[in-house]
Amino acid sequence: MATLTPVISKDDIEKSVIRIAQKISNDYKDRELVIIGVLKGAFIFLADITRNLTIPVKIDFVQASSYGSGTSSSGTIILKKDIEVDIKGKDVLIIEDIVDTGITLSYLIDHLKSFGAKTVRLCTFIDKHERRKTNVKVDYACHIVKEGFLVGYGLDYGEQYRELPEVYHLNLHS
Ligand code: PRP
Repeated sequence: MATLTPVISKDDIEKSVIRIAQKISNDYKDRELVIIGVLKGAFIFLADITRNLTIPVKIDFVQASSYGSGTSSSGTIILKKDIEVDIKGKDVLIIEDIVDTGITLSYLIDHLKSFGAKTVRLCTFIDKHERRKTNVKVDYACHIVKEGFLVGYGLDYGEQYRELPEVYHLNLHS
């Protein structure tokens, strides 16, 4: 059995997304920004962030996976889909739903830098420190959450709950 406890409301999500989109728009004004979304979890956050930007951007996706169907990172990243746009000499902003251990993002930052990007920065919807294992730099975060396994707004547990418009803490009972 599973219990869902609300953590971040729809209203708080909307406010934080607008705030971060404005920051990004200011910081990247007059630059050539390429946004790279990390599938699958980031699809909702990316759609909301990009629709609130006031600058033109290019958008592409990678798909990386480390969790499989469980609640803890396996530590091994599988790159299931790579970028298709040319990011050589470009400013790149990775859009993630959550940075937890930081293993996925450390891997992806190095990976995108290897294509010759001018800068690679990171924007995440949730920055969660409880299990951090790398010193990955988070440049933009909508929400900082201390602990717990979170679902909703793109975040899943075994492919469930991504469609929920708010973020919940998932409690699993045996
Ligand atoms: C989740 C999330 C991040 C990563 C963060 O992806 O979307 O990509 O884990 O965890 P980390 O900081 O511990 O590396 P997941 O592997 O669950 O794939 P998904 O996005 O398809 O759900």
